[in-house]
Amino acid sequence: MENRILGRDLEVSPVGLGCMGFSHAYGTAVDASEAIRAIREAVDMGYTFFDTAECYLGTNADGSTSYNEELVGKALADCRSRVKVATKCGVTHDGRMLVFDSRPETIRKSIDSSLQSLGMDHVDLYYQHRIDPKVEPETVAGVMADLIREGKILHWGISETNEEYLRRAHAVCPVTCIQNRYSMMARWHEALFPVLEELQIGYVAFSPLANGILTDVFSKGEKFDPEDYRGEMPQYSDEAFDQNRGLMQLLRDLAAEKQATPAQISLAWMMGRKPYIVPIPGSRKTERIRENLHAADIRLTQEEVKAIDGKLAQIPMSAVFGGHGARKG
Ligand SMILES: NC(=O)c1ccc[n+]([C@@H]2O[C@H](COP(=O)([O-])OP(=O)(O)OC[C@H]3O[C@@H](n4cnc5c(N)ncnc54)[C@H](OP(=O)(O)O)[C@@H]3O)[C@@H](O)[C@H]2O)c1
Repeated sequence: MENRILGRDLEVSPVGLGCMGFSHAYGTAVDASEAIRAIREAVDMGYTFFDTAECYLGTNADGSTSYNEELVGKALADCRSRVKVATKCGVTHDGRMLVFDSRPETIRKSIDSSLQSLGMDHVDLYYQHRIDPKVEPETVAGVMADLIREGKILHWGISETNEEYLRRAHAVCPVTCIQNRYSMMARWHEALFPVLEELQIGYVAFSPLANGILTDVFSKGEKFDPEDYRGEMPQYSDEAFDQNRGLMQLLRDLAAEKQATPAQISLAWMMGRKPYIVPIPGSRKTERIRENLHAADIRLTQEEVKAIDGKLAQIPMSAVFGGHGARKG
């Protein structure tokens, strides 16, 4: 399994582990010992790239708060030098609305708090989680440059960025990668590919399975815990299951052809599109975590990728979740 390089020199496993779902967004948090065990098993499998965020908080079964960074930190403490850890700043939650704050003083407080939660003296990659319209990209990039000089972070990135913001930020302090939504159902950021190539910036793809629907393990009438965001995502509506029939059949056919699973095909397709794309699927289940990593063993030729693209362009698809709205600060 070949590693991938993000930006100039951040070497990571071809698939990273998105750790959010252990405590945030997908219902009651997993028991901490279970989550830590699953993350450690992921290291043993060959994952070297782990994704968390300051705002990934959730509720444990006993009503207490689950801090995702703490789980990740505890799980990786014994193998810190062998793994790359990414976390994010600049977002808090107000219910399901997002609140953006990338003021320099907030970023500085956040990195110190994240390092404490993780039990680490630095992170390999630090993202601005969302653009804060009240703070110029040059200001954010200037703070990130300071944090790099201070050794608190080794690289930085921007999540859900656009071209103009990325170019302006990159001119002040080189950006290693973006982390934007990307899946067979969410392709609106492909317009950034030429910019990423020009500037040598990687693309970490979040929600690469379209929040799980591309795994084809769900069916019409799916019921979710009220705390689980999937209950309100358009791709999980009954109507969407009808609209996505052709897409699921395409995934099943490709999976049968490659002796793989639909999840693996979804991930292999994006890795086949560009060598600088690194998907970070999340799962609470060890066997699925393993399955997702081994998507990197499935090689699709450029002709096969093009043929899939051609079919995707023709197939009707439902709407897909594009993120929660922002509360005006
Ligand atoms: N930057 C951002 O704003 C942002 C936003 C969202 C997410 N993220 C990052 O991206 C990561 C992944 O995104 P995501 O969790 O939203 O979406 P995702 O990876 O597209 O989908 C996750 C869902 O798919 C299911 N799943 C995963 N692998 C599976 C498999 N092989 N077979 C069947 N089901 C499978 C999981 O359920 P089970 O747990 O039951 O397996 C989970 O519900 C997160 O962990 C987080 O680190 C970043």
